[in-house]
Amino acid sequence: LLQQQVTAQLILAVSVAVIGSLQFGYNTGVINAPQKNLGIQVNFRNCRIIYLDKYKVRFVSYVSAICDPVPIPATWMNRYGESIHPSTLTSLWSLSVAIFSVGGMIGSFSVGLFLNRFGRRNSMLMVNILAFISSALMGFCKLASSFEMIILGRFIIGVYSGLSTGFVPIYVGEISPTALRGALGTLHQLAIVIGILVAQIFGMESIMGNDSLWPLLLGFTFFPAVVQCGALPFCPESPRFLLINRNEENKAKNVLKKLRGTTDVSSDLQEMKEESRQMMREKKVTIPELFRSPMYRQPIIIAIVLQLSQQLSGINAVFYFSTSIFAKAGVEQPVYATIGAGVVNTAFTVVSLFVVERAGRRTLHLVGLAGMAGCAVLMTIALLCLEKMAWMSYISIVSIFGFVAFFEIGPGPIPWFIVAELFSQGPRPSAFAVAGLSNWTSNFIVGMGFQYVEQLCGPYVFIIFTILLIIFFVFTYFRVPETKGRTFDEIASSFRQGGSSSPEKHGPEELNSLGADSQV
Ligand code: GLC
Repeated sequence: LLQQQVTAQLILAVSVAVIGSLQFGYNTGVINAPQKNLGIQVNFRNCRIIYLDKYKVRFVSYVSAICDPVPIPATWMNRYGESIHPSTLTSLWSLSVAIFSVGGMIGSFSVGLFLNRFGRRNSMLMVNILAFISSALMGFCKLASSFEMIILGRFIIGVYSGLSTGFVPIYVGEISPTALRGALGTLHQLAIVIGILVAQIFGMESIMGNDSLWPLLLGFTFFPAVVQCGALPFCPESPRFLLINRNEENKAKNVLKKLRGTTDVSSDLQEMKEESRQMMREKKVTIPELFRSPMYRQPIIIAIVLQLSQQLSGINAVFYFSTSIFAKAGVEQPVYATIGAGVVNTAFTVVSLFVVERAGRRTLHLVGLAGMAGCAVLMTIALLCLEKMAWMSYISIVSIFGFVAFFEIGPGPIPWFIVAELFSQGPRPSAFAVAGLSNWTSNFIVGMGFQYVEQLCGPYVFIIFTILLIIFFVFTYFRVPETKGRTFDEIASSFRQGGSSSPEKHGPEELNSLGADSQV
């Protein structure tokens, strides 16, 4: 049955859509790769050597991949006839990094402006204009001797990435058959992690992370954007959008036939019509409405907490700072260890892809959170014992790899696509705006705050994440329902009733998780 459902048209549509996710991952990873500036002195190749204190050097390591080659000091000297003050330099650099997440917050919150007006596919197509503008700004900044172009380019690609984290899971969720929604939804995360890995590899000095090629490293975004623009016109619009939002039944039917590879699409159509009928009864769902209406309050809280569990698990502390974490843990070749983390990250996303439809979302999320908490404790022990036992550096590598692996089992992929599952067609875009904003805001907080907290707590920094992970575990255990194998309408109606609509499909603990008033 499953094989029948995986048609060429479905694979094409999903693969082309997730190019948006790849762009997000690439631009996340491109700032982390070659953190060579870990010493006390920082060598700006285009200028001269500047000495920074310990604290600033750490900041530099966060932004090094783009900063190291960016000729900010040289440009400053040319323009103003004096050398740049180290603190101005640090501020400009951190701005270039942080502005990506600020763009992401704005983009993710704006998904609703596009989706219903232009449709899912055309929204994805249109926003490529942002990828082109950004890649031109970043790719030509060296020629133009302008660091402002980098800052603006990072902001714009951030907006694009924020939009993609809404568009892609929604589109993929809407075109997938129910039985494959989790597996195909995981492809969004898979493309993100491949993007991160590609950026880590391209960012190596011998490839593009060097004096002459770094503008290409940053402007590379151009190529995936070209491919996506060329291929999207051959992908179908979401049949749910056609039927429910546009009332174009025939078009929806034709698209469904191609996507499902069969002429009998009546059950899919039936289910969409049911959802549509349900939607007619509801008012237009605005963002405040999501919190006011008792029907949406529970799923929106779940959606927000799951996003927080993804980001506040501390994963990006690893992805932004892994090289310096490895260096501090006594690893001799931290850059390779970072790439190793990227490989583990990708491998375990593939594992999740194959088990998510069998094990279910809730179980995998719980396993992932618990495993991450265990690895965080192990890492703390390794860091604490490092001085006495040098071999502890191996334990720290193992624990960071384990941390990343458990992340990708559940907390990485699941929060992204489960939002599409928790809401029906009407509230879905608003729900994504809220969930996306929560995700990007917490991403920003970890990116900006980690280094300060680490200064305060030293090796104990990961204990904070452990505590958060335990809280998210408890929340997931008691509040998050299983969505595997249920149609959008079934899931939505389980929240309407305050319980599960089809108890026979779920274990007892899943019903408990819906609260005391479950309709068993
Ligand atoms: C998720 C997160 C992202 C993180 C990535 C790591 O997609 O949203 O912030 O960098 O996983 O694999």
